Amino acid sequence: MSGEIDLCLAEIGRQAPGFAPQVGVVLGSGLSEVADAIASPRIIDYASLPGFPASGVTGHAGKLALGTIGVTGVAVLQGREHYYEHGRADGMKVAIRTLARLGCRTLVLTNSAGSLRPAMAPGAVMAITDHINFAGVSPLFGEPGDSRFVDMSEAYDPMLRARLHTVARAAGITLHEGVYIWFAGPSFETPAEIRVAGRLGADAVGMSTVPEVVLARHAGMKVAALSLITNMAAGLSAETLSHAQTIAAAKSGGQAVSRLLRDFIAGLC
Ligand code: HPA
Repeated sequence: MSGEIDLCLAEIGRQAPGFAPQVGVVLGSGLSEVADAIASPRIIDYASLPGFPASGVTGHAGKLALGTIGVTGVAVLQGREHYYEHGRADGMKVAIRTLARLGCRTLVLTNSAGSLRPAMAPGAVMAITDHINFAGVSPLFGEPGDSRFVDMSEAYDPMLRARLHTVARAAGITLHEGVYIWFAGPSFETPAEIRVAGRLGADAVGMSTVPEVVLARHAGMKVAALSLITNMAAGLSAETLSHAQTIAAAKSGGQAVSRLLRDFIAGLC
């Protein structure tokens, strides 16, 4: 594990000598536009970074983009590994820890999610305030030492969230807030599961992000996370759920998220 991280750092150092980003970003399916905002990016294929995801999910590029947005140095992970791909929750461990070792003090995550709230329709953007780990597994299973007992009481940094709201207001983007519930997938939820999720206090549902937040908090990074609502959750609309629909909706609604992220990141340093 630490051997893999050292190899990744060496490869990044070879391809982008001396580069020390302050902010890491994980882009969800169909949300690759933010990477286009990087001035003269250095792109590194995950294939040359041992331990990085070998993601086979449509809509995930599998590239690390390094460069600056505004004056902020960023390392953007285009493509994530999901628990549902092989039943392990630690698929992003090397990638997140590599960003932390590179110097990223902040991690910004994006995902696509289903909405449990009628007022939060497809196309809406939600800042995650907290999460429910309904999958019940952790990327820190097997982690030695007391540092594995990570405090998650303010996992989503309140100051970063306040900044997201300021930036959204300035850009004229409505930014919702809510609790994200993580289901294992890959099948979508049943309507009965969504009714349970609503009673537990969830506002949006998805199949990612939570393991990365746990890893980032364990690595001492501050976290901000945005969900792009691509559909109403199961049972809340007549629509049939599919991955193709998620990707198409993320592409068409992704502009607001990308604009918000760009402005947010550009002003972070
Ligand atoms: N459920 C789980 N994951 C998702 C959804 C959903 O409704 N929409 C986008 N990702």
